[in-house]
Amino acid sequence: MKKTAGQIILPTMANGFSRRTLLAAGIGSLTALMTISHRVLAQPVFQNYPFSLGIASGEPSADGFVLWTRVAPDPFNGGGMPTDIVPVRWEIASDDGMQQVIRQGESPARPELAHSVHVEVAGLQPAREYWYRFYVGGEASPVGRVKTLPLASATVDRLRFGVAGCQSYYHGYYTAFEHLAKEQFDFVFHYGDYIYEASYAIENQVRALPSPGAEPYSLDDYRNRYAGYKADRDLQAAHASTAFIVSFDDHEVDNNWAAEIDQDDTPREVFLLRRASAFQAYYEHMPLRLSSIPHSNQMLMYRRFKVGALAEVNVLDTRQYRSNQPCGDGLKSNCAEALDPSRTMLGSEQEKWLFDGLSRSTATWNVHAQQVWMMRYDGSPDESEVRQNMDSWDGTAVARQRLFDYWQQHQISNPIVLTGDVHTHWAAELKANFADENSATVGCEFTATSISSFGDGSDQRPTTAQILSQNPYIKFFNNRRGYLSMEVTAELWQTHYRTVDYISRPGAALKTRATYVVEAGEKAMHLA
Ligand SMILES: [Fe+2]
Repeated sequence: MKKTAGQIILPTMANGFSRRTLLAAGIGSLTALMTISHRVLAQPVFQNYPFSLGIASGEPSADGFVLWTRVAPDPFNGGGMPTDIVPVRWEIASDDGMQQVIRQGESPARPELAHSVHVEVAGLQPAREYWYRFYVGGEASPVGRVKTLPLASATVDRLRFGVAGCQSYYHGYYTAFEHLAKEQFDFVFHYGDYIYEASYAIENQVRALPSPGAEPYSLDDYRNRYAGYKADRDLQAAHASTAFIVSFDDHEVDNNWAAEIDQDDTPREVFLLRRASAFQAYYEHMPLRLSSIPHSNQMLMYRRFKVGALAEVNVLDTRQYRSNQPCGDGLKSNCAEALDPSRTMLGSEQEKWLFDGLSRSTATWNVHAQQVWMMRYDGSPDESEVRQNMDSWDGTAVARQRLFDYWQQHQISNPIVLTGDVHTHWAAELKANFADENSATVGCEFTATSISSFGDGSDQRPTTAQILSQNPYIKFFNNRRGYLSMEVTAELWQTHYRTVDYISRPGAALKTRATYVVEAGEKAMHLA
């Protein structure tokens, strides 16, 4: 397409394009934009910066990764793009100054996917840093850093990765992401709650989301919600710093959804329509492979990452195939339904996939990167009763026992569980029988606090001492915001509990509140 010198300023249009949207050079009339679908706009000209939502990388392998961006010059109003395909150019370099470009290409930003781009790169060197950027219409994106994984058989001296999630925008600044970006991790596991759909999350609002705030139901609603979140500078810096291995929890769709139902008695068929919109927007905004694109209203989100001979990271999906929360959800005492052996957290197919992978694994550390608490947890302030979270693995206690039994019977090497969801830091030993203090420890669970959800917090709560005494396998608790920093060798697993003292305003310093370690071959953890 020939680029013309003049730009045509489009009027505000009924179809959602606003005055501030991208203008395509060479387009002679509004009619041309509206009637010719899927034409390729080779030389678009933008009135606003098109990389408003930043860049990202993800799904690292030993020879590549996914590069992501979305062309969105008017991000909070649908993106501001016409219904044309826009080619986006990308470059990969072996230096952070982008001088030594070793790979380049062009990928179509399509209107069906909100002009997002997912570039699957292969054929690169293992265990190497690369840098990348995108170009569209004469505009360049920021530069991102990404690292390939080691070869599956390689000896790995040290792995460093982050665990983060639960980033309610309303509750405060992403100072934790600002610090995380400086860690230059090998990758980050994001356990979910990337957005919050619910209006209750707006209570105690510290800052307003720049995109519309009503609860999302349609695809456009979810797109605008992601745009509001992804416009954040600190979140963009975190993405630019390393690959994210992402998974969703509940708030990417609806609070505590379970498989094909929500918690509001919405007809199943109707909820599935909403879930389809949420899934599509999630895919559009995450650095995922084509193998995870929604298909027949499902997304394949459980997958495995091999970090040389050192670790296998099993990313689990504890939402899409699970049983409905028993006894009406929430914190419940003596819920007999939770002990029903037919109940599942992973679904039979994913459970089989996990067990098969664990049995074949020769890695030193077998990581279960997931969303909801695996440990038993009694959260009752009243000593005479036990209250358990029906959304967690306490609600599928037999399925949990099946996993623990599998670890033990097959002598799975060093099971480690990574969790989010509860907006607080925890370290806990997982017990063959939680009711018996002398029972064997079968693995360790490290739970990451939120990036921002629930605000500034405090180091402890009034109930902390009692909670720790009635859950003796819990070794550590902290109620500040932050993330986990993992440092892993063949001999030692270290979990550093990073925190910030406040997020109600920017600028909090980073603290390491504690470090808990597991020695390879020892199931128990201890304070470093
Ligand atoms: Fe959350």
